[in-house]
Amino acid sequence: MPVPAPPVSGPLYLRLAVVLEGMIQHQSLGPGDRLPSIRQFSRQQKVSVPTAMNAYATLEDRGLIEARPKSGYFVKIRRADIVRTPGWDRRIRKVTDFASLDPLDTILSDHSDPALVPLGAALPSPDLLPGDKLARAMGAIARRAPGAGLSYDVVPGSETLRRELARRSLDWGCGFQPEDFMISNGCTEAISLALRATCMPGDTVAVETPTYFGIASTLRDQQLKALPIPVDSVNGLDLDTLAGALRKTKISACVLIPNFQNPVGSLMPEARKRALIDLLAPRGIPIIEDDIYGDLQHQGSRPRCLKAFDPDGSVLLCGSFSKTLAPGYRVGYIVGGRWQERLLRLKKNSSLANATLPTLAVAEFLKHGGYDRHLRTLRQAYRIQVERTREAVVASFPEGIGLSRPQGNFVLWCELPAQVDSIELWKQARRAGISLAPGPLFSPDGGYRNFIRLNCGYPWSPLLERSIAILGHLARGLAG
Ligand SMILES: Cc1ncc(COP(=O)(O)O)c(C=O)c1O
Repeated sequence: MPVPAPPVSGPLYLRLAVVLEGMIQHQSLGPGDRLPSIRQFSRQQKVSVPTAMNAYATLEDRGLIEARPKSGYFVKIRRADIVRTPGWDRRIRKVTDFASLDPLDTILSDHSDPALVPLGAALPSPDLLPGDKLARAMGAIARRAPGAGLSYDVVPGSETLRRELARRSLDWGCGFQPEDFMISNGCTEAISLALRATCMPGDTVAVETPTYFGIASTLRDQQLKALPIPVDSVNGLDLDTLAGALRKTKISACVLIPNFQNPVGSLMPEARKRALIDLLAPRGIPIIEDDIYGDLQHQGSRPRCLKAFDPDGSVLLCGSFSKTLAPGYRVGYIVGGRWQERLLRLKKNSSLANATLPTLAVAEFLKHGGYDRHLRTLRQAYRIQVERTREAVVASFPEGIGLSRPQGNFVLWCELPAQVDSIELWKQARRAGISLAPGPLFSPDGGYRNFIRLNCGYPWSPLLERSIAILGHLARGLAG
């Protein structure tokens, strides 16, 4: 069994465990396969026997392998490994206005209600975020240069942060200059400005279905119509359907989340990213790329952005630090390509500037705070939380569900039996003290009635385990 090289930091046994876990997740080591004996493994890896034992013990603790008496170690056969992925519908849909969905505001406000278990909004636990370090950075900046913190951080926004972003963009496959960026008030403002820059009220925008409900809200507010294009939970947007739709409908822009899509978790393969650009760029159709989850792969290297394949400024790349550092700081960015000048004007007229101190604190953290180290810890935490939640869901939800298996991000998309109404489940779950996000929120035409999205942004705990069991019980009741 050839074992790939371990990642570069952390205790050796943990790094070996991560490598083996990756092999198990990608099925190079399948359910029921035998692992090398501890002695063999220590010889292969040129590590001590105790280190090899610790690596195996870590995997045993995570429920990934089991020791069978007198036979050795085997990859555990878990129901979560064999559950199917959620279904999706490839029919071409009608252009629609997004229905007004009242659970939306409730889901966001429920997140700040400590009485509710936070399985609804896609937000990380504050315990996983570097709150102290960011606060210290902000305090130091305010003391060092009190005037700077009080002044406007006028468009295009902090040069210090734009320089840090430009440096990081190499990791996204891009290599931008600081002047390519404009700092925004979170990813929400970046997307909203991108739509305003590229569309007029009444225009039609191609969106993924299901998609992040904030995109739906923004389209509705800007009086834009949505053309829903199906997205599957593995490879992302269905290009055949998009190509078919382009023949019939005039599309002014396309908004999508190629890396670890919310809610389905798909990662668009590079060949598909290229094909998407080949389809839209020659027609002059702008692509608004939401890359908010791009840094959150569970294994391996960061996926490249769609923007990395952009030949002529057709892609408007949007992102933020809401899923990695501090949703409340509202620090985001956009690389506007051909629309940059227009974006700068729109931003100036709508909000003039960003909040200076949070922007500078994020820039400082990127420069000196150990952002890469923080990301490694965070990715590991999200990966484990997603895995634990998958196992708990499979153990207690009704038979026959479909469940996403994201390679990044921290949400799960779950297809329940057809007769389960997720809005009813959402209401019952709230009464039981649990928030969740019902499927129709993610669909321009109110579809996905029997789907839910679960937030896995919180460290696994007995409370979460109990809550998933309660949801399973409620779903079984509704399944009849
Ligand atoms: C895909 C996606 N885009 C944008 C946002 C909002 O980002 P921000 O908080 O930076 O405005 C979210 C938040 O859940 C999201 O999931």
